[in-house]
Amino acid sequence: MPLVTWDSSYSVQVKSFDEAHQKLFGLVNALHDAMKEGRGGEILAETVTELRKYTLTHFHAEELVMERAHYPKLIEHRIEHQKFIAHVTEFENALAKGSTDGSVVVLAVLKDWLANHIQKTDKLYSGHLNSQGIH
Ligand code: FEO
Repeated sequence: MPLVTWDSSYSVQVKSFDEAHQKLFGLVNALHDAMKEGRGGEILAETVTELRKYTLTHFHAEELVMERAHYPKLIEHRIEHQKFIAHVTEFENALAKGSTDGSVVVLAVLKDWLANHIQKTDKLYSGHLNSQGIH
């Protein structure tokens, strides 16, 4: 059974962003499954690589759309993205030092992100973007 399941309560009403968020759910579940089998350390590096890609693609796409739409809460939103990017950098640094026991921390950060960024901060832009024809 997956640890987290995407449902409409997570929808930000913009299709490509919902799809990007769903990929993050997949990463969380894959990491959790591996941890249950005692293989968390094995897939940690791969997970962090995927998180770096996620920040480069999804955050960039989201910020570009918000900027073009003159979204008034862009600055606060970008600050949250930067905090997440800082976490990813910490994970990369720990891996570079040979640490393989960071799965618990990575999973906790990701779960918090789903609940407090996607389900709260991201959803704040839905009305503004939808009103400009962005779905
Ligand atoms: Fe979907 Fe603001 O990250």
